Amino acid sequence: MNPSLSALKPYPFERLRALLAHSQPNPQLALIGLQIGEPRHPAPAFIEQALIKHMRGLGHYPLTAGIPELRQSIAEWVTRRFKLPNDSINADTMILPVNGTREALFSFVQAVVDRSEPAAVLMPNPFYQIYEGAALLAGAEPVFLNTTAATQYLPDLESISAETWKRCQILFLCSPGNPTGAVMSLDYFKRALELADQYDFVIASDECYSDIYLNEENPPTGLIQTAIACGRTDLSRCMAFYSLSKRSSVPGLRSGFVAGDPKLIKPFLLYRTYHGCAMPPPTQQASLLAWNDESHVSENRKLYQAKFAAMIPILQPVLNISAPDAGFYLWPYVGDDEHFTRELYEQSSVMVLPGRYLSRQTHQGDPGKGHVRLSLTASIDECRLAAERIRTYIESKSFKPF
Ligand SMILES: Cc1ncc(COP(=O)(O)O)c(C=O)c1O
Repeated sequence: MNPSLSALKPYPFERLRALLAHSQPNPQLALIGLQIGEPRHPAPAFIEQALIKHMRGLGHYPLTAGIPELRQSIAEWVTRRFKLPNDSINADTMILPVNGTREALFSFVQAVVDRSEPAAVLMPNPFYQIYEGAALLAGAEPVFLNTTAATQYLPDLESISAETWKRCQILFLCSPGNPTGAVMSLDYFKRALELADQYDFVIASDECYSDIYLNEENPPTGLIQTAIACGRTDLSRCMAFYSLSKRSSVPGLRSGFVAGDPKLIKPFLLYRTYHGCAMPPPTQQASLLAWNDESHVSENRKLYQAKFAAMIPILQPVLNISAPDAGFYLWPYVGDDEHFTRELYEQSSVMVLPGRYLSRQTHQGDPGKGHVRLSLTASIDECRLAAERIRTYIESKSFKPF
């Protein structure tokens, strides 16, 4: 077997299962799960209907590049979403459909990393676990960039040494961030692009939460928007990842896309052709409609906004939290995150995820330790009830997180 497989770390939910293996939830209270970032709002009916309508497409092999109509609707979405000049995005050379961002984040690293040189893949810490696994299986060294309150929950690009930048082949950015909800500004992306030019690396910008934000007047910016704003019309060194999973609440559809530099898209398409990850025809048809429609996304976003509005006032007296810029997570500091998670489960039947399961220890410490991630994917009533139970639990303790 590939020896790199043994370098993969246990997935956070495996660690959570182990933590709670000998615990029981409070038998008097129904269990509320806030641990997993799986969207649970109902899937839009028009997406389900499109899948059924195009079921006969199962009778032929799809092209890895997807049908031109899908790439076109995606290119138009990128143009609308980021207010780009018309014709900024070439649907044939700058867009590739993928089966959800998870597989694309993983396979992109396999396609890009040059193993003949010492390779580092830089990523935020805490982070989406696939970044690390992808780096390890590509034979690269994962380098963790701590994101804390002191760095506004963004990697501090200026703190990275020239020696590390020289080894960097891919810089992962995640905006809106999971778990912090922090959003990168245009200037932040601009600086990342300057460094990419200086040190010759690629930016992989995971923007799968880009349509889940709290302020309707201020949708998060992104890497492609920045590149175009800077006159970088060839999108050189850029690859951005988008998904229908969160935007349309269809995590089971497995549908997303990458947008970026044609010089990266072309070899990535070749890699994907061999890898065998073309999107099934009914999924392509349903996805096309989903990228064309914003009303279901706006409804979806409102549900998350209502949950933040319901939970934050309940939790604020006992936790140091405020609404994030975007995403659907809260990331409060709670002291001992594993102890908090276990006791909350046993006493209040609420399941959360210890922050340390999403982060790694570095010389600057472990930025996940002491936090828990609350995923606002349960119903609004459950979210409100969970917030009340968390408050009661903390009020019953002599220790207060702040
Ligand atoms: C930061 C981040 N990136 C990517 C993904 C993968 O999403 P999908 O594969 O459904 O597009 C997730 C899922 O939770 C995520 O949190």
